[in-house]
Amino acid sequence: MSDAFVVVSEASKAFVGVQALDRVNLSVGRGQIHALLGENGAGKSTLIKILTGVHQPDAGEVRLDGRPVRFRNPREAIGAGIGAVHQERNLITRFSIAENITLENPPRRFGMFDAAAAANATAKWLKLLGLELNPGTPVVRLSVAQMQLVEIAKALSLESRFLVLDEPTSSLTPHETRALFTVLRRLAQDGVAILFVSHKLEEVFELCSHVTVLRDGRNACASQPLAGLTRGDIVRLMIGREEAVFAAAPPASLGAAPALELRGVATALGHRDISLAVRGGEILGLYGLVGAGRSELARAVIGAARITGGEVLVQGRRARIRDVTAAVRRFGIGYVSEDRKGEGLILQLSVATNIAAAIWHRLARLLGFLTRRMQDAAATPFVRALDIRTPSLAQRVANLSGGNQQKVSVAKWLAAKSRILIVDEPTVGIDIRSKAFLHELLLRLARDGTAVLLISSDMPELIALADRIAVMKEFQVIDSFDNTRDYAAASARIMQAIHG
Ligand SMILES: Nc1ncnc2c1ncn2[C@@H]1O[C@H](COP(=O)(O)OP(=O)(O)OP(=O)(O)O)[C@@H](O)[C@H]1O
Ligand SMILES: [Mg+2]
Repeated sequence: MSDAFVVVSEASKAFVGVQALDRVNLSVGRGQIHALLGENGAGKSTLIKILTGVHQPDAGEVRLDGRPVRFRNPREAIGAGIGAVHQERNLITRFSIAENITLENPPRRFGMFDAAAAANATAKWLKLLGLELNPGTPVVRLSVAQMQLVEIAKALSLESRFLVLDEPTSSLTPHETRALFTVLRRLAQDGVAILFVSHKLEEVFELCSHVTVLRDGRNACASQPLAGLTRGDIVRLMIGREEAVFAAAPPASLGAAPALELRGVATALGHRDISLAVRGGEILGLYGLVGAGRSELARAVIGAARITGGEVLVQGRRARIRDVTAAVRRFGIGYVSEDRKGEGLILQLSVATNIAAAIWHRLARLLGFLTRRMQDAAATPFVRALDIRTPSLAQRVANLSGGNQQKVSVAKWLAAKSRILIVDEPTVGIDIRSKAFLHELLLRLARDGTAVLLISSDMPELIALADRIAVMKEFQVIDSFDNTRDYAAASARIMQAIHG
């Protein structure tokens, strides 16, 4: 390729027990938006970390604009004009948005941090992404999606020649994604080379012109034009076989009374008059744009935010849920948080310990102790069912790929076998094969009698899984209906409710 700007030749990288990359090639041209695809654990982030100076390759070479480069740290990569949004969040949460965005290059006046200049520079990038926030807001107050947008704004503000985005849209809704794509297309027109990782293939086809697929650390294809490849071709390159399509049947029988019911609930976070009910055996899907208050509602239910009006009923009885521990132990409510790194996982502990964490109290109460073998036995079926790629059950979760970490945090709550399960964005960052596994598992849990409240911004997922759908906007429920799983009808109704 004559206009190749970034060229990776025969790059290899091993970690203990894993050959993460094995002689990988990649070539990205100026002005090109290039997709980097592959299943969870295929090596995408490892390749990106080599390009951005986080890791050094064991073998092989990276050339930038014709010259070989070897970055000893991320700062050197930034200095060479490479901007990145990493899969894991890197914001300093007690700093403001402006402080985070200008972190690499803080504006100074008389030797002091110039807050006004930082706010001005920041406002420009936020506006570009359609993010209406005060640059002085501390990051800790932002939702997961807003943090993701701030990370993107931060990378954009470096005005790099090569922009690397590792699953930048994982927490975004289609609306925000569209704003991002408009910005990326404009950058590409200005000659910026872009490498884009996503598990959402629709996005890839919409945005990218070229594609590289990794499979088990090797090229399944290298730098091919996307035109001419179908979704089926890409899936085969990624997983080596056809995509499994599953169809959900409606529930055979439902519990008589709702397992979880909200009657006219108001919260300190601003929810008003929320009424919802989920029965054992069914999945209630909760849709809404970012900022609609869905995750916040879930947090209020499990006692992490104050309920100021109305009532919550569990198995028909009025419940005052004080905190997450009480939610699990007294009321049998499992909760998969959207913020999995923050709340769902203990990164320094093993895969087995993390999965068994939610059942510790039950096993330990029964026997007074918990052995490593019991933990492993509890974890093994889920590691298999969700295809969690790990050298062993003893591996630290921190060393798993992003998608495999997600699977661990979801597995933990599936293992807990709660009667009520609240899951917030369960398949974010999970590859298409594991997503199908997870969908089946959730559906099986529901059909076995669990009441599932599913929060998902992935509309196809929501419509495929939910028996009923409630739509939220501005901290209120604005519509709810039985879902016949007719995609066109359900998506039209949701959009009508939201944009009305
Ligand atoms: N620091 C590390 N220590 C040990 N193993 C690691 C480390 N980082 C990555 N790995 C392993 O390298 C392999 C590739 O991981 P990588 O994060 O590159 O995958 P990925 O393609 O980005 O997956 P995902 O879609 O889940 O983000 C995985 O088997 C992972 O467990
Ligand atoms: Mg990754």
